[in-house]
Amino acid sequence: MAVKKLRPIRWNGGIVYLLEQRDLPFHEKWVKCDTVEKVAKAIEEMTVRGAPAIGITAAYGVALGAVRSKNKNASVFEKEVKKAISRLRRTRPTAVNLFWALDRMEECLKAVSVLPIAEQKRALEKEAIDIHLEDEALCNRLGEHGGRLLEKAKNVLTHCNTGALATGGDGTALAAITHAARKNKKLHVWVDETRPYLQGARLTAYEVAHAGIDFHLITDNMAASLMKQKKVDAIIVGADRIVANGDTANKIGTYALAVMAKAHGIPFYVSAPTTTLDLIKKNGDEIEIEQRNPKEVTHPQGIAIAKESYPVYNPAFDVTPGKLITAIILETGVCRSPYQKSLRQALATAKKESM
Ligand code: MRU
Repeated sequence: MAVKKLRPIRWNGGIVYLLEQRDLPFHEKWVKCDTVEKVAKAIEEMTVRGAPAIGITAAYGVALGAVRSKNKNASVFEKEVKKAISRLRRTRPTAVNLFWALDRMEECLKAVSVLPIAEQKRALEKEAIDIHLEDEALCNRLGEHGGRLLEKAKNVLTHCNTGALATGGDGTALAAITHAARKNKKLHVWVDETRPYLQGARLTAYEVAHAGIDFHLITDNMAASLMKQKKVDAIIVGADRIVANGDTANKIGTYALAVMAKAHGIPFYVSAPTTTLDLIKKNGDEIEIEQRNPKEVTHPQGIAIAKESYPVYNPAFDVTPGKLITAIILETGVCRSPYQKSLRQALATAKKESM
């Protein structure tokens, strides 16, 4: 029997509906966003999260601002849409997909600015829907390329959430796992709980269970011991930003996994669409890392485990050096070192394909 696809972002009648990811896996509740501010808050406060998903949501946020605008004057309308774009740019700093999507919406606005307002609204709405649909197609291609790399693996370890909840389709790293699992029924997944926000425990376990794949949930500090026991054949993660030399920002804890993989001779794969590439930046030192609320550490899921008054360090992401990454899976294919060359070629191919 076909498994019903999870799709956490819906656009209907000029309104964005988001599956409330903070309530998962226990409750499936939908949040209605009918203002740009509500969309921005939903991104900041993690109702929706995951690099491609926040890009798609932000694009819909711009479309919403345009479609619901009551302005009849073209230049006031343009200012209002630009204001929405700048508000959405200030939501989360690390995942480049957000900025990629907003840049694309801004280019669309510029391209249609000579048209009547009603047509501009239609064009912006279509652009956001296209971004969403294109991401779904990118996920399918990532799944095919990544799935081939994992086909022979018995035990795959993954970190954070990279499935349907984080994208517009079936996911990035998780799409590779689900593709491989279709061919290899014995595939087993180690799901890192992903402290402190627990995307693995709450979301990836939910998605992997939904897909009917064999898995165990582990705490992050169990990974090294599993590797030593030869119980991990490959590690695959997603990405929030990949720069020119292959350095990759992803969920905090990813770097530690890459170091451990190197020490144990285990392949370490990153899977992301080319919309996650930021080749203007030369290396990972140039990536801004989001610092989040200390309460996510002292009060995970609202439960106090440390005094609120304690000083806390809570970066949402870390950077894994490209030299620790065995391969970067993009929709155009599998890139290997030297990344300066392979990523540039992949981006050029993706641009050609989209023309
Ligand atoms: O803070 P989050 O939950 O938005 O972080 C998500 C991740 O780090 C994912 O691994 C990343 O976005 C890649 S997934 C599609």
